[in-house]
Amino acid sequence: MTKLLLTGATGYVGGAALDRIIAFNIPDLEVTVFLRSESKAAPILAKYPGIVTVKVGKAAYSDPEFSRLVKEADIIVHAGDSSDDSVSADVISTNIKDGVLLIHTSGTYILSDFTELDQKISRKFDDERDIETVTSWGLEHPHRVIDIKILDIHKFKPTVNTIIVCPPLIYGVSTGPVNRVSQQIPLLIQLAAETKANRLFGTGHASWSNVHINDVAELYAILVKTYLQDASKLAVNDQGYYFVENGETSWKDLISALDEPLVKYKVIDSQHTSDKLRPWTEDDLKEVRGQQFAKRYYEIYRSNSSSKATRARKLGWQPKEKDVYSTLDEAVNVYLNGLSD
Ligand SMILES: NC(=O)c1ccc[n+]([C@@H]2O[C@H](COP(=O)([O-])OP(=O)(O)OC[C@H]3O[C@@H](n4cnc5c(N)ncnc54)[C@H](OP(=O)(O)O)[C@@H]3O)[C@@H](O)[C@H]2O)c1
Repeated sequence: MTKLLLTGATGYVGGAALDRIIAFNIPDLEVTVFLRSESKAAPILAKYPGIVTVKVGKAAYSDPEFSRLVKEADIIVHAGDSSDDSVSADVISTNIKDGVLLIHTSGTYILSDFTELDQKISRKFDDERDIETVTSWGLEHPHRVIDIKILDIHKFKPTVNTIIVCPPLIYGVSTGPVNRVSQQIPLLIQLAAETKANRLFGTGHASWSNVHINDVAELYAILVKTYLQDASKLAVNDQGYYFVENGETSWKDLISALDEPLVKYKVIDSQHTSDKLRPWTEDDLKEVRGQQFAKRYYEIYRSNSSSKATRARKLGWQPKEKDVYSTLDEAVNVYLNGLSD
């Protein structure tokens, strides 16, 4: 039996990854998920009866139960607040046993250069061709602190191999057991609903790559399956970044495309669409959601993050899902009415 430990099963990315790994029916795989709250175990146990073991540590990643599970695991898939959480990175690094594969989740916010906010940039980072650039940045790049901790594991424990899955903006409703909605697009919809207006953040010329959650989930399952069938096919450690994308849109194109469903579902009226209003300023955002939020999102929604998933495609991964524009009506509907299934 191969013991797979997964974090973030109640989240959007981890839940989708879990669902797809189970759907792959990989022989002799024993799946355990680590939660920090007993109350969220029921939907997981109900969806995968007798297939997934749930373990809870109320002190979250500091709980001795998490260290114990890490010590036992043969494969670890880390997707629970993974990109910025140092406690889990340290516990994994200290307790991971020899010969294990760690599949960590970061994000392509690492590609953003804050001197280029609001600008149209044609450069795309390829996870194979540009790997040395991606792994040589300083700590000013988001998620780098944790990415470095993950990359260091192999240096201190050479029999451990690491992969960093690095998704861009993820869209679509996931098939996971608990949280099924993403972050960036739902937040734009929330802001529109709260202020009765849909606005750009600056010029809107900057752009991000994007991908459907089902296509992200598929990559995790392919990585696990490939590891068990022929680990030599995987890029690992300082080569082991896997981007995952299905196209790219500018913030202007994305936010403008939200005007139609927002008006259709009466979240905003037709006088308050992005083409008729001035963009948000950081001060406007501070008034609506406070300083911390304003600083973070005034950067994110004016940043560039353009990625090319060469390594995933070399493993046979291909995006199969619809594009981001085709999911915006559903995203607004789900925000207003919740999920129907
Ligand atoms: N969504 C995106 O578009 C996107 C894109 C790129 C990268 N990512 C990265 O993917 C990872 C997961 O994001 P997500 O969208 O799935 O977020 P999410 O839906 O908010 O899920 C977060 C998950 O992490 C768990 N968690 C948080 N803090 C924890 C702790 N201290 N101990 C144990 N579990 C903890 C949550 O458990 P509870 O249910 O108990 O809260 C939940 O299962 C993050 O690192 C994120 O940066 C996301």
